[in-house]
Amino acid sequence: MKKICIIGLGNMGKAMWDILSRKGGFELVGCDKGDDVNACVDGAEVIILAVKPQVFGDLAANIKVDLSGKLMISIMAGIGIEKIAVAMKTKKVVRTLPNLALKVGQSLTLLKAGEDVSAEEKQFVKEILACFGQEIEVDTEDKIALIGVVSGCGPGFIAYYGEKMAEFLVSKGVDKIMAEKVARQTLIGTGEVIKESAWNLTDMRQKVSSKGGLTEAGVKIMEEADLSGIFNKVGEAALKRNAELSK
Ligand SMILES: NC(=O)c1ccc[n+]([C@@H]2O[C@H](COP(=O)([O-])OP(=O)(O)OC[C@H]3O[C@@H](n4cnc5c(N)ncnc54)[C@H](OP(=O)(O)O)[C@@H]3O)[C@@H](O)[C@H]2O)c1
Repeated sequence: MKKICIIGLGNMGKAMWDILSRKGGFELVGCDKGDDVNACVDGAEVIILAVKPQVFGDLAANIKVDLSGKLMISIMAGIGIEKIAVAMKTKKVVRTLPNLALKVGQSLTLLKAGEDVSAEEKQFVKEILACFGQEIEVDTEDKIALIGVVSGCGPGFIAYYGEKMAEFLVSKGVDKIMAEKVARQTLIGTGEVIKESAWNLTDMRQKVSSKGGLTEAGVKIMEEADLSGIFNKVGEAALKRNAELSK
């Protein structure tokens, strides 16, 4: 049975722990702040790095166990394969970027394997990622940064959009709790329809936008306000910040 060590049991690491424990078939070891990382990684064939990027340097420096040949799966945003390989002293690094939907097994996880990762090891990583939702393999690390603006930050952007819808209702006198409930359930229901139907996003919008109707009138305002231009700026700002944090 493969021993997998998850380092960092916060939002993401704990969710992975819960999902993998339910799945079974691995020996799982968790290592959170204050635990003896050397004892935790000792004997592990696979190590999942789920700490914040800011603590990674100190964490790696504390590891004295020989990790050469061990498989690293990183979910840390902004830290490249080469940097992880040097710090952890193994050439077998798979960089991934899940999103918060991992908590409910609905993550869209991007993946890029380092050159020394074998086809069999990559397949193993894909099997693990399949437990968290869907995975997409990309051909360059730059694409992790680019696509991650939508997949990684997207839950935050969509939640922000929901907040604005709720704020509109509150501004018109609707009770705050009810406004939040309406916005939340609208997002949940929309997600479920997207999931269950064969509609693409444009179909989805058009199904709600009858000619000359209310939704069409609202979408027209968003077009006039250049929502596309705003999203371009949002994406560029996130990419710029990613580049700054990756240094
Ligand atoms: N959240 C997301 O939506 C998301 C999406 C994609 C990728 N990621 C990536 O996932 C990683 C984890 O994010 P998160 O949101 O789960 O962060 P988090 O909730 O802060 O979890 C990090 C965990 O690591 C622990 N930790 C700190 N120093 C440690 C050490 N030296 N050894 C072992 N554990 C240590 C923290 O403990 P303390 O809290 O006590 O410090 C915390 O439990 C990040 O690298 C992030 O870039 C996150």
